[in-house]
This record gives sequence, structure tokens and C-alpha cells, in this order.
Amino acid sequence: MKIFQLCKKKRYKSLLPLLLFLIFILVISLTIYSGQKESLAQEKAAEALLHLSNADCIKCHSTVATTVDSKGAKHKTAVNCMDCHKGHPPMVPKDKIIPACSECHSGTPHYELAGCNSCHSDPHAPLEMKLASNITGPCLTCHPAQGKEMKEYPSRHTNVACTVCHSAHKDIPPCMNCHRPHTPEMVNKDCLTCHPAHQPLTITYGQDMPSKYCAPCHQDISDMLKSAQTKHTALECVFCHKERHKVIPACETCHGSPHPPAMLAQFKECNACHINAHSLGK
Ligand code: HEC
Ligand code: HEC
Ligand code: HEC
Ligand code: HEC
Ligand code: HEC
Ligand code: HEC
Ligand code: HEC
Ligand code: HEC
Ligand code: HEC
Ligand code: HEC
Ligand code: HEC
Ligand code: HEC
Repeated sequence: MKIFQLCKKKRYKSLLPLLLFLIFILVISLTIYSGQKESLAQEKAAEALLHLSNADCIKCHSTVATTVDSKGAKHKTAVNCMDCHKGHPPMVPKDKIIPACSECHSGTPHYELAGCNSCHSDPHAPLEMKLASNITGPCLTCHPAQGKEMKEYPSRHTNVACTVCHSAHKDIPPCMNCHRPHTPEMVNKDCLTCHPAHQPLTITYGQDMPSKYCAPCHQDISDMLKSAQTKHTALECVFCHKERHKVIPACETCHGSPHPPAMLAQFKECNACHINAHSLGK
């Protein structure tokens, strides 16, 4: 108060602006000082986060760390947290620390697919996948052969999506999940012997295929062969109908020319006398 009273006195009046100026400087200095203190604290925090190691992440993100540890696959062994997350909030904004898959995966048709996370839903467990039941195209980025096979040998399997059968990667379904066997004694291995999964109408078999597996669809012939009791009766169906379904052999392939040429010249068909292969007229 005394100062202002002094200032009011005429002879000190010229000192008032100087005094106000000094007070202003003091306030500014105090403000700058406290500001510096704050940014120093921030710098310290930033410094600390910059020096985070992978071992630190686990302290605050234990759920993620547990996932990586148990299911990380090569995202556990070939890379670490900080290879993917460069920086940390708040110094680096959240959207900048989430890596794009393409940063590390590029250059094959598979890596050109859209929506990596529609299958690889958790980057911390990259091989844990729930595959939708309508996927075909993306599988062909790695399995072009199967796609080609299905197209070249059209069957009703061609229109069945890969993941209808392979509902998880590498899972192989038994045929009998979706079909009934032709006879009760057939096992899954038998199905695959006759029907390749991706071209099921290309039906082939070996010499060990028992006649009882042909019988359910050719009951009349099976019965005829049995009841005729000729030397053909002892033969398996596949002994004559070799390797591929619907193959019909000529009698001559096994018998050559069993009769005098004059006789065979008159009767061009063996079955003119022998009636048919399965009964031989008996
Ligand atoms: C001291 C605890 C702490 C440590 C140590 C820590 N974080 Fe974080 N992290 C957090 C917090 C808290 C958030 C949320 C920040 C926010 O929401 O702004 C976060 C956010 C994140 C995010 C973004 C999450 C989102 O919601 O998008 C990622 C990624 C991340 N941290 C990765 C890491 C990695 C990698 C490490 C190890 C290098 C690590 N953190 C170490 C506490 C920590
Ligand atoms: C191969 C790259 C990769 C590695 C390695 C990786 N992350 Fe991530 N992380 C990602 C991606 C991508 C996302 C975004 C996921 C999303 O958007 O669903 C993410 C998300 C996160 C998040 C936020 C979302 C959440 O799931 O909580 C945290 C926290 C995180 N990661 C921490 C870590 C930690 C800790 C490690 C190491 C133990 C780690 N990450 C290793 C790629 C990776
Ligand atoms: C920082 C680099 C990096 C990023 C980002 C990254 N990956 Fe990877 N990823 C790798 C490496 C390295 C491997 C091992 C590669 C190898 O062995 O050929 C790998 C392997 C994989 C594997 C195979 C895992 C295994 O064990 O066989 C899958 C699946 C995968 N990554 C998916 C993704 C997806 C999806 C994303 C995006 C969310 C992604 N990655 C982001 C580096 C990365
Ligand atoms: C339609 C599902 C699907 C989509 C979409 C998808 N993947 Fe895959 N990915 C798979 C399957 C299935 C595998 C084989 C996994 C295995 O071997 O167990 C695989 C394997 C991988 C592998 C490991 C094998 C390799 O060739 O290196 C990587 C890496 C990978 N994917 C990255 C990606 C990236 C990056 C994207 C997006 C551009 C992506 N995937 C999109 C299904 C998908
Ligand atoms: C990124 C490449 C990749 C993608 C994408 C991929 N696979 Fe595979 N797949 C593989 C590899 C590698 C193997 C192992 C091959 C081997 O063992 O010879 C495999 C094996 C398989 C097997 C088992 C083969 C066996 O011999 O038992 C099946 C079935 C299969 N894949 C189906 C699929 C289906 C269905 C899709 C689409 C959802 C798919 N794959 C997508 C790479 C891939
Ligand atoms: C009707 C069911 C079915 C469909 C549809 C199907 N598969 Fe298969 N796939 C199988 C069966 C069964 C096997 C096992 C074959 C064997 O053991 O001989 C198999 C085997 C495989 C194999 C192992 C190698 C091979 O050729 O035997 C691969 C890879 C494969 N499938 C990929 C695919 C792809 C890719 C698609 C889609 C284009 C597809 N599959 C569609 C049933 C199916
Ligand atoms: C996930 C179900 C599924 C599995 C597993 C499956 N199929 Fe099929 N199969 C189908 C469907 C669907 C059709 C079409 C039926 C229709 O249109 O009525 C079909 C049709 C067929 C046909 C008739 C093809 C045609 O064009 O007339 C044969 C033969 C066949 N399957 C054999 C097999 C064999 C052998 C296996 C095992 C290797 C198998 N299937 C496994 C679903 C399956
Ligand atoms: C001895 C060979 C053989 C064996 C073993 C075999 N099939 Fe067949 N299958 C055939 C023949 C031949 C057809 C008829 C093809 C045609 O119509 O041209 C057929 C037709 C089919 C069809 C088409 C629909 C129908 O019933 O006519 C399905 C589905 C089928 N088989 C599934 C199976 C399954 C599942 C198994 C295993 C339990 C199996 N097959 C074992 C030879 C075989
Ligand atoms: C699932 C039923 C089924 C099975 C199993 C089956 N076939 Fe057939 N087979 C058929 C059908 C359907 C035809 C066509 C009939 C027609 O065209 O009138 C046929 C036709 C044939 C034909 C005659 C082709 C022609 O040109 O007239 C021969 C030969 C044949 N089968 C032999 C066999 C043999 C050998 C086996 C056992 C290895 C067998 N089949 C198993 C259903 C079957
Ligand atoms: C000794 C050889 C031989 C044996 C064994 C044999 N077949 Fe044949 N099959 C033939 C010949 C040859 C034909 C041509 C038509 C004919 O000459 O009667 C034929 C014709 C057929 C045909 C089509 C024409 C028709 O008659 O309907 C079918 C289907 C057939 N065989 C099924 C079978 C089955 C199933 C078996 C086993 C139960 C069998 N075959 C055993 C030689 C044989
Ligand atoms: C795949 C070989 C094969 C074919 C094809 C074949 N057969 Fe035979 N056939 C045999 C065998 C093996 C015997 C028994 C020979 C023996 O035991 O001496 C036989 C025996 C016979 C016999 C003697 C029957 C008996 O009970 O004494 C006659 C007749 C005969 N075949 C006629 C035919 C005629 C006709 C055809 C054509 C329609 C035909 N075969 C097709 C292999 C075949
Ligand atoms: C004109 C009638 C006739 C014709 C055509 C004919 N066969 Fe014969 N075949 C016979 C008679 C009859 C026998 C003796 C009958 C018996 O022993 O049951 C016989 C016997 C056979 C035998 C048994 C021979 C043995 O030593 O046991 C075979 C194999 C045979 N025929 C195959 C054929 C073949 C293959 C053709 C066509 C190239 C053919 N036959 C045409 C009338 C005929």
C-alpha cells in the first residue's frame, strides 16, 4: 500500500509503469517454470515407454501375452510384440501402432486376399481360425491343384464349397458324415478306393475289390452268376471288369479263338451260342 501511496506522490509517478512491468515479468517466469516442469515429467514418461521391453508388456497386457505364449505360433517365435507395435500411446496414437499384415506378408496370391482377419481373427493366435462354411476361392491361393481337379471332373462335389467338407484347416471328413454306404459292411477306406474325393465320378478299383461291393447295385447279375454254376462263377466281377467302372471286356481277350475259324466266321457273336457272360446259357 505504501508503494502506491508513494506512487501517488507526484515525484514517484514515473515509477508506476516500471513496477507493473516487473510484476508482469515475474508472472511470466513463474508460468514458464511450471510449464517446463510438466513437460519434463512427460518427457520422462515418454523416455520410460521408449525403453519398454517385451518383458514389460506382459505386466499390463497379460491376456494378450498369455494368448501369444500359448497360440502365437510363429508370431511368438519369429517376431515379438515390438516388431509389430512400434511405439505406445500416448506418444504414438493408437491407430499408428497397429501394424498392417502387408508390412511383413506380401508377394504371393494368398497375401492379396481381402480381409485377412475374416479368417485370422486374432493376430496373437494367427493359426486359430474359425472358417465360414462357404469358402472356396481363398483355399485355391494355396491349393490350385484341387480347384483344377474339381473343374476338370465335374460332379456334384464341384458345387460343394471346400469348407463344407474341410470345416477346419486340414480336417478330413469321413464320407459317411454325409452319405450312406452301398452295403453295411463298407468302411470309409472302401469309399475312397472307388471314389476320389474331388472327382467322385471317376470310379476305379483294384483286383482285390470284392464282388459283394458290386452286388447291391447289380443284384440280378450277381444272382445270375451264382446260380449258373459255370467256371465264370468262381471269378470276381473285377477279374473281368478290370480297374474302371463300366469297362466291358471282349471274350477274346481271355479266350483267344477257342473254336475252328469256319465256325466263328459264321457266328460273329460268341453270345449267339453262349447267351451271356454271366450265365453262359446255364
Ligand atoms: C504400464 C502399463 C503398460 C505397459 C508396460 C505397456 N502398456 Fe500398452 N497400454 C497400456 C494402457 C493403459 C493402454 C491404453 C492406452 C489408451 O487407451 O490410451 C495401452 C495400450 C496399448 C495398445 C493399444 C491398445 C488399443 O486399445 O488399441 C497396444 C497395442 C499396446 N498397449 C501394446 C503394448 C506393448 C507392445 C507393450 C510392451 C512394449 C506395452 N503395451 C506395454 C498400458 C501398458
Ligand atoms: C504379428 C504382429 C503382432 C504381434 C507379434 C503382436 N501383436 Fe498385438 N496386435 C497386432 C494387431 C494387428 C492388433 C490389432 C488387432 C485387432 O484390431 O483386432 C493387435 C492388438 C493388440 C492390442 C490391443 C487389442 C487387444 O487385443 O487387447 C494389444 C494390447 C496388443 N496387441 C499387445 C501385444 C503384446 C503385448 C504383444 C506381445 C506379447 C503383441 N501385441 C504382439 C499385431 C501383433
Ligand atoms: C512385423 C512383421 C509381421 C506382421 C506385421 C505380421 N506378421 Fe504374420 N508373420 C511374421 C513372420 C516373420 C512370420 C513367420 C514367417 C515364416 O516363417 O515364413 C509370420 C507368420 C504368420 C503366420 C503363420 C504362423 C505359423 O506359425 O505358421 C500367419 C497365419 C500370419 N503370420 C498371419 C498374419 C496376419 C493375418 C497379420 C496381420 C494381422 C500378420 N501376420 C502380421 C511377421 C509378421
Ligand atoms: C479365407 C480364409 C483366409 C483369409 C481371408 C486369409 N487367410 Fe491366411 N491362411 C488361411 C489358411 C487356411 C491358412 C493355412 C493355415 C495353416 O497352414 O494351418 C493360411 C495361412 C497363412 C499364412 C501362413 C502360411 C504362409 O503361406 O505363409 C500367412 C502368413 C497368412 N495366411 C497370411 C494371411 C494374410 C496376410 C491375409 C490377408 C492378406 C490372409 N492370410 C488371408 C486362411 C486365410
Ligand atoms: C497359405 C496357404 C494355405 C491356405 C490358404 C490353405 N491351405 Fe490347406 N494346406 C496348406 C499347407 C502348407 C498344408 C500342408 C500340406 C502338406 O502337408 O503337404 C495344407 C494342408 C491342407 C489339407 C490336409 C492335407 C493332408 O494331406 O492331410 C487340407 C484338407 C487343406 N489344406 C484344405 C484347405 C482348405 C479347405 C483351405 C481353404 C479354407 C486351405 N487348405 C487353405 C496351405 C494352405
Ligand atoms: C465332398 C467333400 C470335399 C470337398 C467339397 C473338398 N474336399 Fe478336399 N478332401 C476331401 C477328402 C475326403 C479328402 C481326403 C482324400 C483322401 O484321403 O484320399 C480331401 C483331401 C484334400 C486335400 C489333401 C490332398 C489331396 O488332394 O488329397 C486337400 C489339400 C484338399 N482336400 C483341399 C480341398 C480344397 C481346396 C477344396 C475346394 C476346392 C476341397 N478340398 C473340397 C473332401 C472334400
Ligand atoms: C460334407 C458333406 C459331404 C461329404 C463329407 C462327402 N460328400 Fe459326397 N456329396 C455331398 C453333396 C452335398 C452331394 C450332392 C448331393 C445332391 O446333390 O443330392 C454329394 C454327391 C456325391 C456323389 C454323387 C456325385 C454326382 O455328381 O452325382 C458321390 C459319388 C459322392 N458324393 C461321394 C462321396 C464320397 C466318396 C465321399 C468321401 C470321400 C463324400 N462324397 C463326402 C456331400 C458330401
Ligand atoms: C466298388 C466301388 C464302390 C465303393 C467301394 C463305393 N462306391 Fe459309391 N458308387 C459306386 C458306383 C459305381 C456308383 C454309381 C456311379 C454311377 O451312377 O455312374 C456309386 C455311387 C455313389 C453315390 C451317388 C449316389 C448313389 O447312391 O448312387 C454316392 C453318394 C456314393 N457312391 C457314395 C459312396 C460311399 C459313401 C461309399 C463308402 C461307404 C462308397 N460310395 C463306396 C462305386 C462304389
Ligand atoms: C452304387 C451302385 C453301383 C455299384 C456299387 C456298382 N455299380 Fe456298376 N453300374 C451302376 C450304374 C448306375 C450303372 C449304369 C447302368 C446303366 O447304364 O443302365 C452301372 C453299370 C455297370 C456296367 C455296365 C456298363 C455298360 O456299358 O452297360 C458294368 C460292367 C458295371 N456297372 C460293373 C460294376 C462292377 C464290376 C462293380 C463293382 C466293382 C460295380 N459295377 C459296382 C451302379 C453301380
Ligand atoms: C468272366 C467275366 C465276367 C465276370 C466274372 C463278370 N462279368 Fe459282367 N460282363 C462280362 C462281359 C463279357 C459282359 C458283356 C456282356 C455279355 O457278354 O454278357 C458283361 C456285362 C456286364 C454288365 C452290363 C451288361 C449287362 O449284362 O447288364 C454288368 C452290369 C456286369 N457285367 C456286371 C457284372 C457284375 C456285377 C459281376 C460280378 C457279380 C460281373 N459282371 C461278373 C464279363 C464278366
Ligand atoms: C477276363 C477273362 C475272361 C473273359 C473276358 C471271359 N472269360 Fe470265359 N473264362 C475265363 C476263365 C478264367 C475261365 C475258366 C477257365 C478254366 O478254368 O479252364 C472261363 C471259362 C469259360 C467257359 C467254360 C465254362 C465252363 O463252365 O466250363 C466258357 C464257355 C467261357 N469262358 C465263355 C466265355 C465267353 C462267351 C465270354 C464272353 C462273353 C467269356 N468267356 C469271357 C475267363 C474269361
Ligand atoms: C456256334 C456256337 C458257338 C459259338 C459262336 C461260340 N461257341 Fe464257344 N462253345 C460252343 C460249344 C457248343 C461249346 C462246348 C460246350 C460245352 O462244353 O459246354 C463251347 C465251348 C467254349 C469254351 C470252353 C472250351 C473248353 O475247353 O472248356 C470256351 C472258352 C468258348 N466256347 C468260348 C467261345 C468264345 C470266346 C466264342 C466267341 C469268339 C465262342 N465260344 C463262340 C459253341 C459256340
